[in-house]
This record gives sequence, structure tokens and C-alpha cells, in this order.
Amino acid sequence: MNLAIDVGSCGFRAGVQTRSDVLNEPSVVAYGQATGPLVGQRAEQMIGRHPGHIRIAFPIEGSIVRDFEALVDVFKYMIATLLPGRFRKRFDVVLAHPSHQSQVDRKAFDEAAKAAGARRVRFVESALAAARGAGLPIDQPVGSLIVDLGGGATQVALISLGGVVERRTLNLGGRTIDQELMDRVQRRYAFAIGLATAERLKRMACQYAAGAAGDAAAGLESAEMAERAREAAAADPRLGENAAGTATFTVRGRNLATGLPDSLAVPMTFVQESLDQYADQVIGLIRETMEACPPELVGDVMDRGIVLVGGGARMASILETLRRRIDVPVTADPEPETCVIRGLLAAGA
Ligand SMILES: Nc1ncnc2c1ncn2[C@@H]1O[C@H](COP(=O)(O)OP(=O)(O)OP(=O)(O)O)[C@@H](O)[C@H]1O
Ligand SMILES: [Mg+2]
Repeated sequence: MNLAIDVGSCGFRAGVQTRSDVLNEPSVVAYGQATGPLVGQRAEQMIGRHPGHIRIAFPIEGSIVRDFEALVDVFKYMIATLLPGRFRKRFDVVLAHPSHQSQVDRKAFDEAAKAAGARRVRFVESALAAARGAGLPIDQPVGSLIVDLGGGATQVALISLGGVVERRTLNLGGRTIDQELMDRVQRRYAFAIGLATAERLKRMACQYAAGAAGDAAAGLESAEMAERAREAAAADPRLGENAAGTATFTVRGRNLATGLPDSLAVPMTFVQESLDQYADQVIGLIRETMEACPPELVGDVMDRGIVLVGGGARMASILETLRRRIDVPVTADPEPETCVIRGLLAAGA
């Protein structure tokens, strides 16, 4: 029996061919409970709210193994959840790996899977799996460009005839945006917010920016997006406006001047600066990949467009920016976080 696995910086996914459902939980492990390590959803709820004796571990960051013990515990959790008892000592693992992962980190993945009971471990490049999961014709002699906007890694790959022709990657992603926002809010406003708050701020700004862009554009799709953003904004009482008429989003945290709990209205434009910087990095990576590609394949991409996967593909504002700045059709997979695992399973993992 084969277990297909994609462990990302933000979430882990696993599946077996005999089951249609896929396990999809946050990549977090909490230690220090008398009952043993807590993995996934239950550990995530504790982030930022745990007492000192509990340690929160994030196994992966980008392509790097940060916590080997936590990675083994994630594997054990997947096995206990997905495999019937009689298979728990007789299974192989197919693992997705980022293109830029070092041999040392790949070896750590291999050892962690074996420590959790796997007999053999096989690796598949995650961009290839993602492209298959997104339904691209990767085995045909046409170029497909896949862009994975992950939590800790951003990858661009051009695929043709079942192989990766060109790839470019950066060890940063959505989680990096959150951390940067947290730091910038602290520096600019002397105000401390948690990582989860920074992420909410980012998501809200993404939706809001897409709404504003939709107002300016005439396209039906953009108008729908604007409508959705307006609905979301109306449903969220924390969205407001400051004296200068700029939209703001109110967050809670600690005022560093007083040391006391407080709330702060952060202008959307402030958050947008971080989103714009990331969009620039993504566009730079796409450009570098295209520049290194044979012209025939560049022509294919111009005809067939670019497909976004990974959780960052839900950032409506990035989608808008790419569409505006790249003269190629850009679409996002509707279930972007699970493209890699669905691709591994579709390949008969
Ligand atoms: N609606 C949304 N708006 C903005 N960002 C979002 C949205 N949904 C998810 N994200 C972001 O997507 C990122 C997670 O993406 P994904 O699950 O693909 O990462 P991962 O596979 O765990 O990480 P990696 O592959 O980089 O190691 C997070 O940073 C999250 O904030
Ligand atoms: Mg990923």
C-alpha cells in the first residue's frame, strides 16, 4: 500500500488511493501535554495561547526541515489516521519535494518517513505533481507554466513531456508576508500583533484590494470579485475608514508604549505594500523562468496561460496584479492547497 504525502510549511496533506478523501491539516505539533504530542488542527488552536511548558513546533520552513521530531510525529499521525492497522508495517511512501530542496533535507524526509514505519520512500518534484493535480496536460509536447504560491516557498516551473524544463524558486511565501507584516506593524506603530492576526490582516487586504480593482475594471469576473469583497467587508465590523478616507482594518494586540492591550486601525495601503512587494517577486521569478525557456515553449505559455496553485493562489489581489502586469492569461486552481497531493494520487502514488 502507498501513502502519498505533501508536507508544507503551513499545511500537510496525505492520501491513499483506496480513499477519496485527503487529510489536510496545519503543519504544527504541540509538545508538553501528558497525553503525548498533538498534531495538526488541535495543535494550531494553541499557537500564541500556550503556557510555558508547552512547545509548539513547525516541522518545515520552505524546503528546510526545521524540526525532525515533529516531522516524524506528523508522519505517524498520517499513518494512524489513514492506514488500516494491518498495513501500518507494510507501506511505501511517495513524497512531494520542492525543486530546490537540498540533499540533506531530502535525506531528513526519507529518514523521518522510515522512522514512522515506511518501507520505501520515493520522491516526486512537487511542481510536477501540482501541475498534474491542476489538470494540466503535462505528458504532452506542450509547455505548461505552473506557479506554486506556498506558505514558505514560491516555485515557478515550466513543464513539458512529463518533465520540468525550467524551474525557479524562492524560500519565501505567504507565511513570510505575515511575519514581515508583524514586524512592520511593530516598527511603524510600536504595536505588537500575533502571527494569526497578521495573517487575517493580509487576507482581508487581499480581498479588499481585489474589490477596489474590480470597481475600476469593467470585466464581469472582476465585478463579481468586487461584489464578493464588498460582501466580506460588510460582514466584518473591523473594517473601517480613517480621517483621511483610507480604508482601515482594526486589529487587537499590545500597545508597546503603554504595555497594555489595545486596538489599532491599520490602513489597507500599509498592508498593500507588503502584498505588492511579494507580487513583484513572483513576477520576477516568472520572468526569469520564461527568459531561460526555449521559444516554442514560451509561445505555448502565451497561448495556454499560467496556472496558480498553493494557498497564495487564493490571494485575489495577486491574481489581479498578475493579470494586469503579465500579457498572458492567468487562472487559479479552485482548490489550490491540494493540487500537489491530488497530483500524486492521480499519478498512481
Ligand atoms: N484567502 C487567502 N488569502 C490570502 N492568503 C491565503 C488565503 N488562503 C491561504 N492563504 C495563504 O496560503 C499560504 C499557505 O499555502 P499552502 O497551504 O499552499 O502552503 P504550504 O504548502 O503549506 O507551504 P509550502 O509549500 O510553501 O511549504 C498561507 O501563507 C496562507 O496565509
Ligand atoms: Mg506547498
